[in-house]
Amino acid sequence: MYYPEELIEEVRMKNDIVDVISGYVRLQKKGSSYFGLCPFHNEKSPSFSVSRGKQMYYCFGCGAGGNVFTFLMEYENFSFIEAVKFLADRAGVELPEMEYSKEAKEKAGLRATLLEINKVAAQYFYVQLKTEQGKTAYTYLTNRELSDDTIKAFGLGYSNKYSNDLFQYLRKKGYSEDLIRQAGLINTDEKNGVYDKFWNRVMFPIMDVNNRVIGFGGRVMGDGKPKYLNSPETAIFDKSRNLYGLNRARTSRKPYLLICEGYMDVISLHQAGFTNAVASLGTALTTGHASLIKRYVQEVYLTYDSDEAGTKAALRAVPILKEAGISAKVIRMDPYKDPDEFIKNLGADEFEKRIGSARNGFLFSLEILAKNYDMESPEGKTAFFKETAKRLMGFEDELERNNYIEAVAKSYRVSEESLQKLVTKTAISEGMAKPAARPKQAGGGKPKEDGILVSQKILLTWMIEDVKLFGTIKRYISPEDFTEELYRTVADLLYEQYEAGELNPAKILNHFTAEEEHREAASLFHTKIRELSTREEQEQALKETILRVKGHSIDYRTMHLDPTDMAGLQRLMEEKRKLDDIKKLHISIE
Ligand code: CTP
Ligand code: MN
Repeated sequence: MYYPEELIEEVRMKNDIVDVISGYVRLQKKGSSYFGLCPFHNEKSPSFSVSRGKQMYYCFGCGAGGNVFTFLMEYENFSFIEAVKFLADRAGVELPEMEYSKEAKEKAGLRATLLEINKVAAQYFYVQLKTEQGKTAYTYLTNRELSDDTIKAFGLGYSNKYSNDLFQYLRKKGYSEDLIRQAGLINTDEKNGVYDKFWNRVMFPIMDVNNRVIGFGGRVMGDGKPKYLNSPETAIFDKSRNLYGLNRARTSRKPYLLICEGYMDVISLHQAGFTNAVASLGTALTTGHASLIKRYVQEVYLTYDSDEAGTKAALRAVPILKEAGISAKVIRMDPYKDPDEFIKNLGADEFEKRIGSARNGFLFSLEILAKNYDMESPEGKTAFFKETAKRLMGFEDELERNNYIEAVAKSYRVSEESLQKLVTKTAISEGMAKPAARPKQAGGGKPKEDGILVSQKILLTWMIEDVKLFGTIKRYISPEDFTEELYRTVADLLYEQYEAGELNPAKILNHFTAEEEHREAASLFHTKIRELSTREEQEQALKETILRVKGHSIDYRTMHLDPTDMAGLQRLMEEKRKLDDIKKLHISIE
């Protein structure tokens, strides 16, 4: 661990979880908890709760939960240490300088190291751009009308012509070949050995919302192929969850984002004053992008290229955004190819006008749809309206649907009444009067957990939910009965706290500084438990769970027993006998 546990605990205590989360989520007090819309999944009614007493949060919808550090790790994509630093800063707690010993580096985890390597690489590329050998690249950028300020703001750089220059540089800085490979910066083949992935290209560092370099795009200066080369997906680079330029756009204070396709589009738009532009970097917009966007705005303008691919991309993006509760409008760039060329030729004022005359995403998709039908013939028109009616059924909200029916009727000059009738008829014949159940979002795809682990988790959840239950459970279960190592560590800490008379699960989480472990530990306190209404039911469930956990623990320890350990065997037999006693016992929860 980097910092002493007491110091981490001090930071945690000085940052009230309700205050911190209120900076991100609108919370309302209900009883002893605060509720709001969960930032980790899309929902319409609040199931995200924050407890001031426990200093923990939990979402009843998707199961996300933890303490104030967990929240920032999830929301801001921070590592544990970054979350500690951020909150120390917020509360004015001074942290000692960290020493970067070899062990410390290893503990910082793979992700932190890859971020570091990328940062060093970005600095290297940036410096290269300003050297003699970088002159062509620099000229390339200025020919594309980028100013020095813009180049600096986006950290643009140059990867030079030597085939393994960056690799050598990073090796000298002490990073292993394996890590540099994991950062996606080198390739290897039999003929050439190790060589830099990016070579003689203008470099665009890709940053996450916290300005950390997570990958690169490199453009050839001219007509070579491929035009852009991008970092592969790595432990820190997930294309479907990051948007280029969002680190700057998030602070633009505009109520909407401009979404375009390419690096140069974003940069040109920012330079022209449209600092709310981001790009999905040539990949199709995903639900991951949509939930990221939803954290900042409710509305987007799609300014994709005016070619067929751009139109298709916009058509695909509209429903994905709608599903996440984001309304989309579409801006056309014709007669130019993309925002970059548009701005260069017509300037910012004209672009602003295009924003003003942007078309609603749904109506835009109908315009494109109409091109597939012969709108001059009655059959063609009827078929078009049938398809339109189907799509209108996609609006679950009646008021919203009616508004769209009205808008469509007006644009296509049919009576609102007949369109309304067609929609109802379509709904009945398609059996869609009720919208089809959507596939479950969060957690839905996870494999089913091992039953015994679930039972162990349930016990831990109960123990922190209710001190009285803790007392009851403790009579039968001890920390060593938790056979999963992480659970046992948590149990050890919990029992210690119980003996000291201060149950404090939020504090226990400080113990787990590696991301995966931290998340797993956080989940232990929030296991979903079936609603049990009567006391009998609750007592029955408690007894069954205790028996299951104890029984498994005895079996497990018997299996792992040293065959020469007679005393151990005796103890286990004793426990087994006690287990039979518990079976006959009535366990009361009062
Ligand atoms: N792209 C890519 N690989 C390619 C081509 C494109 O990753 N071989 C991605 C890049 O993120 C690029 C975006 O798709 O920015 C849009 O591609 P395109 O329209 O071809 O490029 P522009 O952004 O217009 O690039 P430029 O203006 O530099 O020609
Ligand atoms: Mn372009």
